[in-house]
Amino acid sequence: MSSDVQQILRSGVELTDRALERLLPDSNTIPTSIHRAMRHSVFAGGKRLRPVLCMESARMLAGNGELPAGIEDLGAALEMLHTYSLVHDDLPALDNDDLRRGKPTCHVVFGEAIAILCGDALQTQAYQTLAGLRCPPAATVAILGEIARATGTVEGMIGGQVMDLESEHLTPTAELVSAIHKAKTGALITTSVVTGGIYAGGDASAVEHLRVFGQRAGLAFQIIDDVLDVTESSEHLGKTAGKDAATVKATWPAVYGVDQSLKDARGLIDAAFKELDGFGAAAKPLKAVALYLVERKH
Ligand code: IPE
Ligand code: IPE
Ligand code: MG
Ligand code: MG
Ligand code: MG
Repeated sequence: MSSDVQQILRSGVELTDRALERLLPDSNTIPTSIHRAMRHSVFAGGKRLRPVLCMESARMLAGNGELPAGIEDLGAALEMLHTYSLVHDDLPALDNDDLRRGKPTCHVVFGEAIAILCGDALQTQAYQTLAGLRCPPAATVAILGEIARATGTVEGMIGGQVMDLESEHLTPTAELVSAIHKAKTGALITTSVVTGGIYAGGDASAVEHLRVFGQRAGLAFQIIDDVLDVTESSEHLGKTAGKDAATVKATWPAVYGVDQSLKDARGLIDAAFKELDGFGAAAKPLKAVALYLVERKH
């Protein structure tokens, strides 16, 4: 990993974590069990890639190399939504995982009922945060709509999770896996980039370039998630490896094999970069993060 991207990731994690610390109720707030569960899952050690993508997209459009004031709250809201999706993804009724971000999953520590409510609560807290964003009201409304759609049932995160579950044990086709991945993971990554651009005041044409960039990078991200499930250990990933084959999930490597999957992910990133041609040198940090999405090892 280049030192540039290391620095971008490190400062993105710090900014996001400070915002999350401020925005989430503290562990002694009653009822304490739910607030402890929320903090357990949020602060277990995620990479914060969606906030980082959002912030670097906003930095690119701001045009002065700086982050727009208050953007970290948008990043924190995206991270709350992502963590909610992980808490529910790990539940016994879904992927039934007991390890996440190197720690026991939410339902293992707090029980299934609190874990379900924890996911719900993180979603609610995200929208409360979005309602207080420090950007013009019209931009806030546009961001709320984008995020609700991206996490919803029609080509959004929940729809993708449904397709993922209903495709277990089927022979996966290229079309099916592509549809699952674009929805369950690509949509939230796309919306992270798009809403960062809206927050920074991007015009319709800039936002559409960001959308296509995000769609390609988001699909590449999930292809690599599938590859790492095959090639890395649970200890290294901080989540159960080999799980997709064990549960016969519809994954990219199941259709194409690992080598072709790596090539496809890299090809998607190159195609994503093309969408940023018009932004010139200002696109460098966002491109560096996108490259990390496919070169990462965890
Ligand atoms: C894992 O996402 C879940 C998927 C959507 C594939 P990340 O790899 O971004 O997980 P964290 O946030 O770093 O734990
Ligand atoms: C999860 O996909 C996608 C969401 C949480 C929306 P996976 O089931 O592949 O994620 P991991 O591998 O458990 O992190
Ligand atoms: Mg899953
Ligand atoms: Mg899973
Ligand atoms: Mg996975």
